[in-house]
Amino acid sequence: MATVFLNGEYLPAEQARVSVLDRGFLLGDGVYEVIPVYNGLPFRLTPHLNRLQRSLDGVRMANPHSIEGWQKIIERLVADNGGGDQSVYLQVTRGVAPRDHVFPEGVSPTAFVMSNPLKAVPESFKTAGIKAITVDDIRWAQCDIKAITLLPNSLLRQKAQDVGAQESLLIRDGYMTEGSASNSYAVIDGVIFTAPKDEKVLPGITRDLVLELAQSAGIAYREQAVSLAELQQADEIWISSSTRELLPVTMLDDKPVGSGKPGPVWQQVDRLYQRYKQEGKV
Ligand code: PDD
Repeated sequence: MATVFLNGEYLPAEQARVSVLDRGFLLGDGVYEVIPVYNGLPFRLTPHLNRLQRSLDGVRMANPHSIEGWQKIIERLVADNGGGDQSVYLQVTRGVAPRDHVFPEGVSPTAFVMSNPLKAVPESFKTAGIKAITVDDIRWAQCDIKAITLLPNSLLRQKAQDVGAQESLLIRDGYMTEGSASNSYAVIDGVIFTAPKDEKVLPGITRDLVLELAQSAGIAYREQAVSLAELQQADEIWISSSTRELLPVTMLDDKPVGSGKPGPVWQQVDRLYQRYKQEGKV
């Protein structure tokens, strides 16, 4: 049984208990991170912990641990769960208090971390690409905060699942924001387009690396959202996340994207991404 961390203790997952009065449970009042671990080493850990701080600031919650404190917890949990490739899930809620919309005073946050084996992405997702659908972005107006309130994301992701697609690409006011659980990209005439880091998208850690790698290879990119019409004509479409890395979308709303195969720009950037990982860079 996996070991988890809950409020200072390391214990078997089935023994970890949170109060029914926890504001995460009652109000969805919390934030989270998902951090990939390759070969026992957390990938891009500091940027993830910086984004956690940003999310906590965004919801006016104190950080229960310093960066070094979180690093130690995560290192120990990854080791206790056998190293290798894992996916660390970290959640902080405002804590346990009588139900009230107003923030309670003097309450300690609930800090929870678990780590599960990283699910391998099916090989066909990379060789043939994935299917995506476009849906209205029905989420709130602060999608840059990694809040645990994922009901809209979950509803939108399920719509993809229902029609045998692997991701929903979200359209707000006629423009693509991101995926239901990923950042998204369109390649048009050799230029990578991805929505700018504003309140409409999560500032993805994988997205930052994808753009860094593109820059290092001299591939042009623009942090500019594409319209639905541009998306439908794009040569390539991709998604990225900590758990799925960088995947090509080859079918959009049942129509082939570009050639209908993973495109050359994706292949180039994915090669750089895989090399970066294999070199043990973190
Ligand atoms: N989600 N946008 C949304 C809405 C996301 O939920 C995620 C990741 C991303 C990609 O961010 P990053 O590259 O930092 O993982 C973008 C995680 C994996 C999840 O909720 O499980």
